[in-house]
Amino acid sequence: MKENYIVCNCMQVSYFSILDALEGHNKFEDLLSLFDAVQAATHCSTGCGGCHDKVMQIISEAMMG
Ligand code: FES
Repeated sequence: MKENYIVCNCMQVSYFSILDALEGHNKFEDLLSLFDAVQAATHCSTGCGGCHDKVMQIISEAMMG
């Protein structure tokens, strides 16, 4: 069981919200469009941008499974 935590402090976006935003997407989409979709849904990474790498990392891990 994975634990939820805040990934983007500026926008208070949690790990689970990012996973939710990836629902309906598939691993054949490229990482940048997936990132755009997650960003549009959650507004993550629209503040300081410091969470960008973490968000990318979560997306790639979620899509590898
Ligand atoms: S921590 Fe996500 S934009 Fe600042």
